[in-house]
Amino acid sequence: MTKIIDGKAVSEQIKQELAVKTELLKSEKGITPGLALLLVGDNPASKVYVGSKERVSKELGYHSLVVKLPDTASEEEVLEYIKKWNNDPEIHGILVQLPLPKHIDENKVIMAISPRKDVDGFHPENFGRLVIGLPGFVSCTPAGIVELIKRYDIDVKGKHVVVIGRSNIVGKPIANLLYQKRDFANGIVTICHTGAKDISKYTLDADILITAIGVPNLIRKENIKEGVVIIDVGINSIPDSTKKSGQRLVGDVDFEGVKDMCSAITPVPGGVGPMTIAMLMQNTYLSASGEVGF
Ligand code: GUN
Repeated sequence: MTKIIDGKAVSEQIKQELAVKTELLKSEKGITPGLALLLVGDNPASKVYVGSKERVSKELGYHSLVVKLPDTASEEEVLEYIKKWNNDPEIHGILVQLPLPKHIDENKVIMAISPRKDVDGFHPENFGRLVIGLPGFVSCTPAGIVELIKRYDIDVKGKHVVVIGRSNIVGKPIANLLYQKRDFANGIVTICHTGAKDISKYTLDADILITAIGVPNLIRKENIKEGVVIIDVGINSIPDSTKKSGQRLVGDVDFEGVKDMCSAITPVPGGVGPMTIAMLMQNTYLSASGEVGF
């Protein structure tokens, strides 16, 4: 029987746990987790993501601050906000929604955020800490995948983990997490990307396949082996005339076509997606409570 990994249910549980811990943090230490969100421009997906992050942070009782700037905003303006929040004791987490307009240097912005408030885990200090196994903030989608692996008892040790995609947000950090000598990891990791002539050569050998490439139906049953665990990070909108909106969300994997071959699989929507926000809230809580050591 294929296990359908229910990221929505797990994320709800994590959020409930965080709401309880937040109450205690407030009553016992007088600390309210504070999250500052910065949105530049009007990318429709980014607006939805920032709206959800704001809503959930409020539901958990956090202090949340949202600044929306037009896409004509200068890099200096963005850096000014970051500087202000870096020095604001009521703000424990700073998130600048990506992508930024072309005239703003994303790396410069990411590097301006204090590593101690970098709840996205994008700052090179946090990424470097992850690679060498020091505590720090881990970016939210990879952290969410690890949480699902733990809560669903997926055994990674000695397994061939194939990651498709080498982004700084998902591919690189999840690959780096899963080869580490840690209880939830210790896998043998291959990173696949557009340089591969034939990805089947790699995916057919995967015991655990993680796709984060943004190509609908890239992975079909002929690309995988029986019993594989699939973690589908893709969120792609495709036309669907049966839906009122005229479209629907799918992952990078042909879910219906592959699911009977898998031992476990995450659906889209409802798999990895909801975990990302839950882990952002967890990182913000950990920043406020001082539990992430530097
Ligand atoms: N854009 C897409 N995913 C993310 C994310 O996790 N964090 C930020 N800041 N921007 C994103």
